[in-house]
Amino acid sequence: MGSSSAEVRGRWQASGTGTWYDAQRWSRNRERDPRTVDKLLSKFLPSSGNGYASLLDAPCGTGRLRATIEHHGSFIGLDASLSMLAAARRSDPSRLLAGDVERLPFADRTFDAAISCRLLHHLMDPDALARAVRELVRVSKRLVLASFWDAGTLEARRRRLPLTRRPRHRGWHSRGEIRTAFGEAGAETIHFEQRIRFVSQQTWVVARCGGSRPS
Ligand SMILES: C[S@@+](CC[C@H](N)C(=O)[O-])C[C@H]1O[C@@H](n2cnc3c(N)ncnc32)[C@H](O)[C@@H]1O
Repeated sequence: MGSSSAEVRGRWQASGTGTWYDAQRWSRNRERDPRTVDKLLSKFLPSSGNGYASLLDAPCGTGRLRATIEHHGSFIGLDASLSMLAAARRSDPSRLLAGDVERLPFADRTFDAAISCRLLHHLMDPDALARAVRELVRVSKRLVLASFWDAGTLEARRRRLPLTRRPRHRGWHSRGEIRTAFGEAGAETIHFEQRIRFVSQQTWVVARCGGSRPS
């Protein structure tokens, strides 16, 4: 059992967090996630190239993915942290709102795709993971793209060895757990994207929505 959802949400609330995240967290590899999202949207939502797709970024953090997402359609960003949202608003104050990924304030099938970057590895409580995945699937008509830390990597296996320090607030999910969470939410996993198999922790799942949903 991991931290509660409230603890996870609380982690980015301190004032100054958004400024730090925007200026310093991505001093290296800043382009990696935007490039992957661009690649996955181009491949799995090709009609988004006409710019008419509606796309949710949740959590959007400081809006790091916004320019890439807007290349494919209209953007809405949601995040639980006012500090992160304040940083996001500095470049564009529109279409950003505070909210909880586990209780999204949107009707079913509002978006063509929901994108969730760097949240799932914080949700080590299986119920929180299930709630977040269910909500992302519920609000999307076609696709969910979500990143997670892949338990099949060498680093994840090394950290399971005795006497090895593990990250306190983050963790790995197996592809099977991710596939099950999406399946139970009514979406079919159609692709995993990982830069270097068994090495790169950050892996993306692409799930197709629109089949029958659990009631
Ligand atoms: C590592 S940051 C990732 C932000 C952005 N997706 C990115 O890749 O830059 C994690 C974000 O998740 C947000 N967060 C955590 N739990 C949340 C929840 N239940 N609902 C909405 N946002 C949440 C935090 O406020 C933080 O902005």
